[in-house]
Amino acid sequence: LGRTRVKQALSGAVQPGAVLVRGWVRTVRRTKNLSFIALNDGSCLDNLQIVVDSEAPELSDLSRLGTGACIEVHGELTASPAAGQPWELQARQIRVLGGADADYPLQKKRHGFEYLRTIAHLRLRSNTFGAVFRVRSALSFAVHRFFQERGFLYVHTPIITANDCEGAGEMFRVTTLTPLDPPRNSGAVDWSRDFFGERTGLTVSGQLQGEAFACAFSDIYTFGPTFRAENSNTSRHAAEFWMIEPEMAFADLAADCRLAGDFLQYLCRYALEHCAEDLKFFDTHIETGLLEKLAALAEAEFQQMTYTEAVKELQGCGRAFEFSPAWGQDLQSEHERFLTEEVVKGPLFVTDYPKDIKAFYMRLNDDGKTVAAMDCLVPRVGEIIGGSQREERLDVLEGRMAEVGIAPESLSWFLDLRRWGSCPHAGFGLGFERFLMYVTGMTNIRDVIPFPRTPGNAKF
Ligand code: 4AD
Ligand code: MG
Repeated sequence: LGRTRVKQALSGAVQPGAVLVRGWVRTVRRTKNLSFIALNDGSCLDNLQIVVDSEAPELSDLSRLGTGACIEVHGELTASPAAGQPWELQARQIRVLGGADADYPLQKKRHGFEYLRTIAHLRLRSNTFGAVFRVRSALSFAVHRFFQERGFLYVHTPIITANDCEGAGEMFRVTTLTPLDPPRNSGAVDWSRDFFGERTGLTVSGQLQGEAFACAFSDIYTFGPTFRAENSNTSRHAAEFWMIEPEMAFADLAADCRLAGDFLQYLCRYALEHCAEDLKFFDTHIETGLLEKLAALAEAEFQQMTYTEAVKELQGCGRAFEFSPAWGQDLQSEHERFLTEEVVKGPLFVTDYPKDIKAFYMRLNDDGKTVAAMDCLVPRVGEIIGGSQREERLDVLEGRMAEVGIAPESLSWFLDLRRWGSCPHAGFGLGFERFLMYVTGMTNIRDVIPFPRTPGNAKF
């Protein structure tokens, strides 16, 4: 007897008759003659109702069959007389694979997300996190499908690297950990125990290596873990997150924005088509109007304004901000929210930022003051994409590196790309978790990562 997933059983895809189902008990309701078990196996939001005849002797020892138990049920899939569910399973035999007592931490009541983070290994069995991680999985696949359909090459860029791509000094250092090390580091820095004596860190971006690949394969993308040692306790920052970074040869900033817009719309459409049930759950329980918002984004014309226009807009709007907007200063999250939530009421590309607040590799504009950068901002979440056209001119790039104090020897290979066969190219990075926050309505980045890495969170 082949195993049937709950999703198949509920969808009517399975012939009525004998089936075998395994999963985890959500609730048990006992009446005098019958017990009703709601069973979930992670394949979908809904539970399969198992009807158990309390008299049947092979079903009698159900003592540890409480919420949280793992069971195997042989039974008869039949049309359900109850409203709200097309099918139910009449149990013939139940085996308790792993019992659960009443101290199981996930009880039927609604738990707060903060509490659920302390049981990150069990929160996966709740409705919300089931939905989050199904959407995360589906959208990971969609990312690959989008780029593969367009002929982009997938490249695995290194995790351990000597390059600080963003130059923000937020890298984790890589060192050797031995079983004899005390639980917490103490004492002086011993570089000899770093990467075989070399100074290295965990990557903050795969872009620099991605550029090398784009200068050989034309269109490429990365999709992998990314690390930032910023000790910021916000709802949008994690020390470990996943970034998608396409890089295109022969592309300028306009082409970069077009690709980013097409990509975001593709992902929204994919989620609406393939995660309808889970998105409906988020729409009902997490963010009202979510489905409408995503449907609108899937069709939207993306708004675009330059950084200079954005600052003028902020200065002229008459709003009292905590940080008053000034040309040359980075946009604060209150500014990003105002622009997306009140000015354009939707996603917005802001382009051409001052060079001094952006990374060294961005292409200098003719004004000598701004660079061909773009950030994509969305309501509520703020920045989800950062990208740019890259500086392909050797002399200009060397000048910029000197300005910000990057030794040319440290990035000689990167300069080589401008020395031999340089070409205009552009790319961007989408923070996968930030995008998932937008799509699900979840408001804390810790709740869209399986086991979040934020200050104080490395246990799981
Ligand atoms: O704007 P960022 O720093 O850009 C880059 O790293 C470029 N090298 C990308 C490129 O052009 N190839 O980061 C890109 C995106 C941000 O817009 C944000 O969505 C996400 O990565 N991000 C974070 N997400 C979660 N936690 C953090 N600490 C993040 N830092 C950046
Ligand atoms: Mg950025």
